[in-house]
Order: sequence, then C-alpha cells, then structure tokens
Amino acid sequence: MEVSRICCIGAGYVGGPTMAIIAKHCPTVKVTVVDISQSQIDKWNSNNLPIYEPGLEEVVFECRGKNLFFSTDVDNVIRDSEIIFVSVNTPTKKFGIGAGKAADLKYWDIVARNIAKVANGPKVVVEKSTLPVRTAQSMAKVLHANDRKIHFEILSNPEFLAEGTAIHDLTYPDRILIGGNPTESGQKAVGQLEWIYRHWVDDKKILRTNLWSSELSKLVANAFLAQRISSINSISAVCERTGADVDEVARAVGMDSRIGPKFLKSSVGFGGSCFQKDILNLVYLCESLGLPEVAAYWEQVIIMNDYQKRRFSRQIVKCLFNTVSGKKITLLGFAFKKDTGDTRESASIYIAKQLLEERARISIFDPQVDPGQIDQDFLEYSILPTELKSGERVDQLVTKETDVYAACENSHAICIMTEWDMFRTLDFPRIFSRMEKPAFIFDGRNILKHDELRKIGFNVFAIGKASASDTLF
Ligand code: NAD
Ligand code: UDX
Repeated sequence: MEVSRICCIGAGYVGGPTMAIIAKHCPTVKVTVVDISQSQIDKWNSNNLPIYEPGLEEVVFECRGKNLFFSTDVDNVIRDSEIIFVSVNTPTKKFGIGAGKAADLKYWDIVARNIAKVANGPKVVVEKSTLPVRTAQSMAKVLHANDRKIHFEILSNPEFLAEGTAIHDLTYPDRILIGGNPTESGQKAVGQLEWIYRHWVDDKKILRTNLWSSELSKLVANAFLAQRISSINSISAVCERTGADVDEVARAVGMDSRIGPKFLKSSVGFGGSCFQKDILNLVYLCESLGLPEVAAYWEQVIIMNDYQKRRFSRQIVKCLFNTVSGKKITLLGFAFKKDTGDTRESASIYIAKQLLEERARISIFDPQVDPGQIDQDFLEYSILPTELKSGERVDQLVTKETDVYAACENSHAICIMTEWDMFRTLDFPRIFSRMEKPAFIFDGRNILKHDELRKIGFNVFAIGKASASDTLF
C-alpha cells in the first residue's frame, strides 16, 4: 500500500495547508503542490506565505525543500505522482444554467482533461474540492476518454478544515472521510489513501463510504453547521424584541447534550467561501432532483443569513436618526472570521455595500486583510453605488486604515464586524474621546463588555440583546 509521490493541484486555502500537514507526518512521501498561478507559487516558496493561518509557517518552513515542494510545472508533477489530489476552487456559477446556485465546475473539468492528456500511467485522482454529488461519475468519463487506455481511480476525500484553525483541524481531525468504488481497484486506492492518513490519524476516525455518500456528506455537514448559525440568528431578532439575551439562550439550549454548545454564536451573519456556496449547491441539487420542498428548506438558511446582515445595517441607520449620509462609520474587521485574512463572502462586504447605498462614509480596519484585497472586493461585489464608480468621491467615501485608532477618529459609529481578539482590549475611552457625539458601537459579534462601554458614554447595540433605547422595561 505504500505511496512515495503525491501531488495536489490547487495551492489555495485547502491545498497548501493540507499538503503541508501530510508532508509533516509522512516524511517518506514526496509531496508537491502545483498551481497555475505563478505568483501564488512564488509566495509559497517565499517567507511571506500567500495565506495567513496560525501555525502554518512553522509546518511549511519545517518541510519545504525536504519532502514538500511548490511548483507550476503541473504536467511533469502529474506524471510523477501516484496520487493526485485536486483542490481547485468550485465557486457558485455566475452565468448560464444554474447561475447563482450550481457549482461552477470549470476548473475541475480543465484539471481532469489535463490529467487525462498528460498522465503516462494509472493514477488515483482524489476529489479534495467540495463538489456536487456524482461529480466523480462525470470526471471518470472525462478521465477515461483518453486513447491510451490508462486507468484512473477516483476517490472522494472532502476536507473539513475551518480557516483560522486549519492546522489544528488537520492535525486532529474529527474524521477522515474516504469514498471509493466498491471494485477491487477502487478499494485498493482507498487503502493507499488510508495509508497516508494512518501516519497520524487513529484508524477509528477513518470512515469508508461509497463515493456519493462522501460527496453528499460534505455538503450536508456545511449545511448543518450554517443552519445552526441561522437558527440562533433568527432567535437573536426575537431576543431584541423581548429582552431575552441571545448568549444566555444559546448557553441554555447548548447545554442540552443532544444539541451541544458549538456553532451557536449569534453574529452579524456567517461568511466565508464555503457555507453559502455549498448550501446553494445543495439547493440546486434538490431542485434538479425534483425535490422543491427540500430545496426550499435549505434555502431558508441563506435567506435568514441575508436577513441578519440587512437587519444589522438597518439598525445602524435607524439608531443614527435615520440618516447616515455623509457620516463616518467605522468597520472593525473585514475578514469573514478572526485569524484569517480571507474576505470571501464576509459580512463586512455586505454591510459596507448597504451603508454606502445610504451614502455613509466608510472607514475600514482589519489586522490581516491587505488594503488591496479590500479594493478588489469592492470591485468584485460591486459595492460602490454605480453612479460613483468613476467619480473622485470614492476616496472620500471609503478609507482603509492601518491604525485602528485612526480608523475610529471622528466616527459616528463603530461596528465590530470580525471577532478579532485585539478588538476586545482596545482603549475605548480614548476612542470615545475622539468620536462624534452621540457615539455608537454596534457589536456584530457580541465580544465587547457592553456595560463598561455604556459607562464610558457609548450608545451600544448588540446582536440579540435589547439595547437601552429599545428595552421594553
Ligand atoms: P482557493 O481559491 O484558495 O484555491 C484554489 C486554487 O486552485 C487557486 O490558487 C487557483 O489558482 C488554483 N487553480 C484553479 N484552476 C487551476 C488549474 N487548472 N490548475 C492548477 N491550479 C488551479 O480555494 P480553496 O479555498 O482552497 O478551496 C478549494 C476547494 O476546497 C473548494 O472546492 C472549496 O469548496 C473546498 N473547501 C474549502 C475550504 C476552506 O476553508 N477554504 C474548506 C473545505 C473545503
Ligand atoms: C466552514 C466549516 O466550518 C468547515 O468545516 C468547512 O470545511 C469549510 O467551511 P470556515 O468557513 O472556514 O469553515 O469557518 P467557520 O468557522 O465555519 O465559520 C464560518 C462563518 O460562520 C464565519 O463567518 C463565522 O464567523 C460564522 N460563525 C461561526 C458564526 O457566526 N457563529 C458561530 O457560532 C460559528
């Protein structure tokens, strides 16, 4: 079962960390990560890695050049590898059939065709990306349409890591899921992949399933996790109108061992590249299977998340006397969660858009997000009101600060968008003294000490908590 050379196509948030951990635990295996992006690979080969992930640098610096390599020589690396993981992006389709819901399998299709073209012998191809159910069947057709009769065995091995805790999640996974064909060659390939994981993962945590269960389980796991957040966020709206406290409710509910305490933190809305995309993918699958009730059930998780974001921005406008036009509002945090520089689908993006539609002036600070990334997001998500896109007023409307106190200066309101630890210990009296009055804080993550802030003089609005002005009593 031993394997000596593996590779991963796609050196992103999943491919890079996952392969680094395999390299660390399997010193006899040569692990190469390839990507079409030269700049991405250059960064992986530098001291300035392309993604921020606690603990990642240590692992990469320990293994790089020994048994971990980063390269753009995709074709030769494919030829040289026995197992090929594919971890390219699978975003939501933006055009054509299924636009806005279905997964765009363009990158996967290109990769499969290339493997079929350049491979010089049998290969195990592993689906690491999150994919619609039965993708393995389509990919098998593409792969086997080669005229050299090369056999490819396809496995599904979805990744469950969360950003910000990727190294921990990869080192101590709850489970490793491997889906394969029931055939002899299918089970042999499963055995090869198991051999790799057994270097550091307990046998009992390695689950073998059929291909379709494995592909579907990944979508379902993300849907269940996101559903918990939408559930508690829906209750946060009830709390704000009743005087119940959402953190107290979550604690009381989560202490039921059947429910459990995790993923019940109410927030301004979940973000990240996975939850929305994967639920939409599930919704599309259900619609395609003629199951509209099931599709509608899961779509509600997204609808509730959109509602939560809209509710937050509306609350800001309402508290600021129904006009934010020309007022400076500070967004603390632009990443979709702490300990990552990733901004994909971040709630901040949507709140910025909604506030700019009201003609607020936005100031943004994030300890890890590159200001260039914020500019890119503004373009990609069409955040600026259209008539302002070409005007010079854009600079007046949006500022990106590298100093958190400068970001808050002369602001009417501060919004905690990401739960970065550093925001808990800011010098709030100093911030208050340099803000416009009345000064507001909107805690979209419920991480601040609200009573202390009120003593300083802030008006505080927090998710799922009756604010002073709204309280019923
Ligand atoms: P990413 O965008 O960070 O990385 C994908 C990489 O693939 C990019 O660097 C891109 O240049 C490269 N690529 C695209 N086409 C290529 C090609 N033809 N040849 C070589 N390289 C190519 O994406 P990601 O966040 O790592 O996600 C990858 C997959 O893993 C997705 O399906 C995602 O749903 C899934 N996933 C992501 C996470 C997460 O936390 N980000 C967790 C679990 C699963
Ligand atoms: C998620 C899944 O957790 C992971 O298993 C999968 O492999 C990829 O998708 P990720 O998106 O990286 O991981 O982060 P996650 O910790 O799940 O957070 C997603 C979003 O939900 C973030 O915006 C986070 O702030 C938010 N969240 C999370 C809440 O609002 N409340 C919670 O209780 C938990």
